[in-house]
Amino acid sequence: MRMVDLIKKKRDGKTLTKEEIDFIVDGYTSEDITDYQMSAFLMSVYFQDMTDEEITWLTTAMSQSGDVIDLSDIEGIKVDKHSTGGVGDTTTIVLAPLVASVGASVAKMSGRGLGHTGGTIDKLEAIPGFQVEIPNDQFTKLVNESHVAVTGQSGNLAPADKKIYALRDVTATVDSIPLIASSIMSKKIASGADAIVLDVTTGDGAFMKNLDDAERLAHTMVRIGHLANRQTMAIISDMSQPLGNAIGNSNEIIEAIDSLKGNGPEDLMEMVYVLGSQMVVLAKKADTLEEARNMLEESINSGAAVDKFKEMIRNQGGDDSIVDHPELLPHAKYTIEVPAKKSGVVSKIVADQIGVAAMMLGAGRRTKEESIDYAVGLYLNKKVGDEVVEGEPLVTIQANREDVKDVMTVIYDNIEIGESGEEPVLIHKIITE
Ligand code: URA
Ligand code: CA
Repeated sequence: MRMVDLIKKKRDGKTLTKEEIDFIVDGYTSEDITDYQMSAFLMSVYFQDMTDEEITWLTTAMSQSGDVIDLSDIEGIKVDKHSTGGVGDTTTIVLAPLVASVGASVAKMSGRGLGHTGGTIDKLEAIPGFQVEIPNDQFTKLVNESHVAVTGQSGNLAPADKKIYALRDVTATVDSIPLIASSIMSKKIASGADAIVLDVTTGDGAFMKNLDDAERLAHTMVRIGHLANRQTMAIISDMSQPLGNAIGNSNEIIEAIDSLKGNGPEDLMEMVYVLGSQMVVLAKKADTLEEARNMLEESINSGAAVDKFKEMIRNQGGDDSIVDHPELLPHAKYTIEVPAKKSGVVSKIVADQIGVAAMMLGAGRRTKEESIDYAVGLYLNKKVGDEVVEGEPLVTIQANREDVKDVMTVIYDNIEIGESGEEPVLIHKIITE
């Protein structure tokens, strides 16, 4: 087989065989295939697309390119959750202990953020002492004993994807549905969970800017999951404005604690209940979504959910006193209000640009090498659909520098106040096949 022939085949819109796709993935992983040939191949996929079968073969080849985690030592059904990305997305930090508190096993592998704010792993590291690098045997033990552990992705999980993703990033081939679907699912499959709940986000703050594309991505990933014998479902959710009120790291931990105590923002709580109910049913801890939701609500009301979060923090070496004393988390030197310039109704909050504003404060990384300032971030006092009076604080900036004019400018440019505005629909669709 010659790579040049396979590039031509895809360029001309033909369908590749499993052997051909294996040849490409193996060859690129072992560096027998060069970056320039792989780049040409990725661009031809971008324009010519792939069939469901091709996407499944690509996913399988990438998932088998490195370590495949065996969670079979953990009793029962292990569920994982994955979001295609958002701004201020605190969901996982609430979901993991909450779902575990009703007896479903959550074996969560998470990435670091290379977006506007930290990823889940970075946010958890805002908790003093919290260890995110835990050895596999320890991970298994924790999930068995405590139903929950959250760890950073092992270094050699789907290395083919790591290499291909880095190349896509610099060849304008990231936003391709077959490439995104195979990239995400290769890691989920290699990380060993039996059931996968996907949150496919749509809107300004997401990869998929419109609903049709999000739907196709969701269907594609669900099909790949089923073909790989994993129970898989997806919800399509709105990411046109950030989720919840807090955007940052420490402040999102506080938001998660509030949520586990039943005082979380409405949109975040709704996401948590919808995704959590699906996870509990997939784990066979409830027969219906309604029953699952009641169990989750009860766990929050009784305090079991927040206790499980304390246990999860202790298990991973963290200081659980932050749950009742959030002032022990890193906090910013300056709190600066951004007042509304006029009265009206908030009609738009551009998620990705608000994410950029948080990053400018230091809440996220511009490059892999940068470090994160856990203390800083933004708090949205108003969300789309809320009334606001001139002079009222629209956003609170938590900063470690006194001059934040640059951040204020980005905020003013990306929050619109109009005559009217409606709260966006949070969950567009639920996809099970
Ligand atoms: N997240 C991934 O892991 N891969 C993609 O291609 C896009 C988002
Ligand atoms: Ca949030």
